[in-house]
Amino acid sequence: MSPGNDRILVTCGLPYANGPCHLGHLRTYVPADIFVRGMRKMGKDVLFVCGTDAHGTPIVVNAEAQGTTPKELVAKYHAHFDQIFKGMNVKFDLFGDTDDPESHHRTQEIVKALVEKGHVYPKEIELAYCPVCDRFLPDRYVEGICPYCGVSARGDECDQGCGRHLEPGEIKNAVCKVCGGKAEYRKQIHYFFKLSEFKDFLLKYLETLGGTASARNYAAEWVRMELKDWCITRSMSWGIKFPGHDELVVYVWVDAPIGYVAFTEEWCAQNNRDWKEYWQDGAKIVHFIGGDIVYHHCIFWPAMLKGAEYTLPSAVVASGMLKIDDKKFSKSRGYVIWVKDDYLDRGLHPDLLRYYLASYTAHNKEVNFAWKIFGDKVNTELAGAFGNFLNRTLTFTIKNFEDMTPPGEIDPEVISRIEGTIREVELGLEEYEFKKAIDSVMTLADYGNSYFQSHEPWKLVKADKELAGSVLRSCLQIAKALVILMDPVMPSKMEDAWRQLGLEGTVGAQRFEEAAVPLPVGRKLGKPEILFGKMEDATIKELDDIFKERMIQAESKDKKEKNKLMETISFEQFKGIDLRVGEIKEAERIKGSNKLLKLVVDIGTENRQVVAGIAETYTPEDLVGTQAVVVANLERAKLFGVESQAMLLAADIGGKALLLRPQERVEPGTKVR
Ligand code: MF3
Ligand code: ZN
Repeated sequence: MSPGNDRILVTCGLPYANGPCHLGHLRTYVPADIFVRGMRKMGKDVLFVCGTDAHGTPIVVNAEAQGTTPKELVAKYHAHFDQIFKGMNVKFDLFGDTDDPESHHRTQEIVKALVEKGHVYPKEIELAYCPVCDRFLPDRYVEGICPYCGVSARGDECDQGCGRHLEPGEIKNAVCKVCGGKAEYRKQIHYFFKLSEFKDFLLKYLETLGGTASARNYAAEWVRMELKDWCITRSMSWGIKFPGHDELVVYVWVDAPIGYVAFTEEWCAQNNRDWKEYWQDGAKIVHFIGGDIVYHHCIFWPAMLKGAEYTLPSAVVASGMLKIDDKKFSKSRGYVIWVKDDYLDRGLHPDLLRYYLASYTAHNKEVNFAWKIFGDKVNTELAGAFGNFLNRTLTFTIKNFEDMTPPGEIDPEVISRIEGTIREVELGLEEYEFKKAIDSVMTLADYGNSYFQSHEPWKLVKADKELAGSVLRSCLQIAKALVILMDPVMPSKMEDAWRQLGLEGTVGAQRFEEAAVPLPVGRKLGKPEILFGKMEDATIKELDDIFKERMIQAESKDKKEKNKLMETISFEQFKGIDLRVGEIKEAERIKGSNKLLKLVVDIGTENRQVVAGIAETYTPEDLVGTQAVVVANLERAKLFGVESQAMLLAADIGGKALLLRPQERVEPGTKVR
């Protein structure tokens, strides 16, 4: 067994078992897998676990909509992700599920520990409740208005406005997602984690946290701004029971990361190891996550671990987002590439995509994916530089030296180049700079090509066969090094290459340091084959067309949905709306908002303060003295902290608004019918 500091646990953010795997997912899983394979090649004892995230309201809402149970939905996507990861050569030691018994058990243990140590307290809060469905409406069961910015929001997150995480009970004007009915607010007791007590701990801890700098810096910024206590229970039945309260489950963000511990336990039980070596003994724990869940991994999670006295993560590695054709990834807008349907099922090799995702840009930066770039990268970098060097070295040697590694000195400059590349690759991996590591391997491939070219072995075989042997053995040494160093990135392609070189065993089993070990003379070479075929323009176009077509369809579907006429209402209902002509008396901008204006409008009987989203169409000066149609009996609302006491009617022209006005000036307060 290796000493504690060589033992590493690597995890990946758990995919929700709620939809198929897309390219955005792989942006995290592929580099994590490369890291794990690389660390093993550096002699570290690495355990790599992941699993599906089974709980939370979206899964329940979706299961209900599809007429199935959450359990079945989770099983379906669990199998899907498992298959995709295998297909993409992402090789977890264990791929679990947060609904596994181990996960239930570990979550309850950790929550009990937090309760016993005084980090959890009950509090009565007011929550959205649907009288029709007769139930409380946690998280995604409810939609309404964000209390901070006034934009429409989901129950747990202001996804279209300010982006804030919303705590239970915070959402305003709540509407039930299931029946569409207006929710009421009812009191209920919930449990809160005293996150605010962990402020000093977190500030200190974040200073020492490894991984990507942006993750710890963002987190430290948030901790300095505000740390509110965190509601960790929900009233629903799908999930992990809050100990001692069968009517409550823990919030999904409590049990999800605890999955990391539970999966470690599952693996340890199957492999005669003790999970405490990882979670109570100070092993190195490295979390790979998407850039959108830094808050949970750098704030909630370490505070929970600290509170329950478990080992703290050493590093949080957050990946940059994925763009497609330079546009923000979006499933609903069709900017998505499905790993199964659009890639693997079309017979494309997993290693090509692994190479693209890890080499395109630094790990914490955005990756742009486009089929055109994919084709170019495969053709110039893989088929051109890397594959070409291997192939010409092998074919030429086989033709001139009877299928065997020729005798001859390996050029000392070649060995020292290789040693330098080994160091760069190791450093790149240790610093989570995957692009840097790959770039230095590619630089070695370029060096190989120019070495071959400038030594002109085709002339030497006639003039000085011994020297030609030495040049080719040097080239084969570079080939061997390239294959070992690139193995973490393209494991199955490199196994093929290893066989072609006729080397012993598997490349998977080689350490990086083996790259500089001279290859044996007189060993039989394998059969050279094209490692990376060129991608035809027609193939690239075909792939791109599938994607473009999906985008167009999504766009027109979106338009249709937005344009759908609403349900008929009765004349009575219509008469209930009090429409008047109003006259704008005053107008000013609202600080901090570029959409909203604050107006004073004369509606005949009185003046009203109105907050209107028309600042992109009108300046305050445009408006004073003009008239518009006003809804005079709308309930009051606060927008950006300013009370609005009526609403103006306007034509919605794609975000901007044109006010509806009478054709001639009329008396303020005139009825509209
Ligand atoms: N399922 C979550 C997401 O996709 C990630 C959970 S990661 C864990 O955003 F740490 F909580 F497990
Ligand atoms: Zn309802």
